Amino acid sequence: MTRTVSTTPFDDQKPGTSGLRKKVPHFRQEHYVENFIQAIFDAAGDYKGKTLVIGGDGRFYNREVVQIAIRMAAANGFGRIVVGRSGILSTPAASHLIRKYGAFGGIILSASHNPGGPEEDFGIKFNTANGGPAPERVTKAIYERASTITEYTTSDEADLDIDINGTFETGGATVEVIDPVTDYADLMEELFDFESLRSAIARGLTITFDAMCAVTGPYAKEIFEKRLLASPGSVLNFMPMEDFGGHHPDPNLVHARMLYDQMMGDEATDLGAASDGDGDRNMIIGRGIFVNPSDSLAMLAANAHLAPAYRNGLKGVARSMPTSAAADRVAEKLGIDAYETPTGWKFFGNLLDAGRATICGEESFGTGSDHVREKDGIWAVLLWLTILAETGKSLSDIAHAHWAEYGRNYYSRHDYEAVDTEAANRLVEELQGKLGSLAGTEAAGMTIAKADNFAYHDPIDDTTTENQGIRVIFENGSRVVFRLSGTGTAGATLRVYLERFEPADGDHDLDPQAALANLIKAADEIAGIERHTGRAEPDVIT
Ligand code: G6P
Ligand code: ZN
Repeated sequence: MTRTVSTTPFDDQKPGTSGLRKKVPHFRQEHYVENFIQAIFDAAGDYKGKTLVIGGDGRFYNREVVQIAIRMAAANGFGRIVVGRSGILSTPAASHLIRKYGAFGGIILSASHNPGGPEEDFGIKFNTANGGPAPERVTKAIYERASTITEYTTSDEADLDIDINGTFETGGATVEVIDPVTDYADLMEELFDFESLRSAIARGLTITFDAMCAVTGPYAKEIFEKRLLASPGSVLNFMPMEDFGGHHPDPNLVHARMLYDQMMGDEATDLGAASDGDGDRNMIIGRGIFVNPSDSLAMLAANAHLAPAYRNGLKGVARSMPTSAAADRVAEKLGIDAYETPTGWKFFGNLLDAGRATICGEESFGTGSDHVREKDGIWAVLLWLTILAETGKSLSDIAHAHWAEYGRNYYSRHDYEAVDTEAANRLVEELQGKLGSLAGTEAAGMTIAKADNFAYHDPIDDTTTENQGIRVIFENGSRVVFRLSGTGTAGATLRVYLERFEPADGDHDLDPQAALANLIKAADEIAGIERHTGRAEPDVIT
């Protein structure tokens, strides 16, 4: 029986960089989840009789919210609901299913790389019919609706058994529980030459993939070990856990340290890779060499033609503003457009839909292409594997050859986490206040050429998005960007992005922290990081 429940709005249901993210106890407040899901439905347009995809990264509270979402979707009039078995769908797999089934959209339950568990993080995100994260206009409408909501519609239907594949009729809708992996793995077989990858692996190409006890475990097992016949044990930490084994499922140098250490030592394989909680991020390491995400994007763009899906070339390359300009240099050489968008995958959606860009990437360990509308960790690993297989070169050789051709954008990101929110805001306000007078002044002995707050004009829908990060550009071409994270759940996270270009005939083998030392000093002089935050060192350096 469908029923309408009276409720009162919460004032904090504002989607951030990637959906609504809060601690689990916060989500567990009475009506909190229901209000937000109803706000999504109310704001999203005419979905009556249409298809909704539901799934998540399997973290704590995933199963409960999947059941709530199924009940509400049926009660609100969706015709068909496609659910990943056990409520599991990686973010790229969900994006693919929305497209494949011609769905109205999807509800993805994830807090990405944030930790999981009863006291940790949870998240709800809405993706639209193109398979991508809802654009600003939609997230704004969801927030407005959530801020004034007075009732939601649900039903008394019992929980469904979502642990077996099957079709159910419930509350007037058809619910299909499907295998979460098969469609996605099939898509990868269309994009890449599995035959050729299999024979390279048979000839000795080796891979280690760390699933970090998160959603990609079953996907990686199926693709790397079952379909590509990588040796058993190539996929580490493949059992998804509700609390990710107590770790942060964040593939970076801090949280994927074990993989990093393995790749720097005698146990290294040709390719080492890791993905995050919901499977959209990736980290790439070769024998003895870490490739930062900005470089990875550039190198993937330069070599994408080695995979069947990109044999005819790329339409364009897009990167988020804080991502290094390494990809722009590749685009220039290829004679294709390069786009610079704000942080957040949703900003790539229009460019991908309009056929302006084929490959996109962000410094935050995200790379993807127009095959879905999310970044895609396993996709990036398969493209790297293809490059190694087709060239027969080591990852280190590929990286060095790339820098020798294009020059190297030394790059690093310094994160100051859980900073007092007011202190972080004061830092940004003070910076903002002096933006107009920075040009011509010096920091750490370097002259500032230009300083601004990045605003993006979307060439497709003509919208403008402002205040997307403060950029300070020096006369020598180096750059520092200051930005507050939009994905944290505790206090504020200050991100400082540092970039210095070393020409093609320069020194490409410096430690990035050493190569950027002067810029790091300049960043503190300009923003007063220690003065405002009381922190002498960042918490995470990538
Ligand atoms: C998520 C988004 C990315 C974004 C990243 C960092 O992973 O999907 O598009 O780059 O968060 O965002 P933040 O606001 O924390 O820097
Ligand atoms: Zn993620």
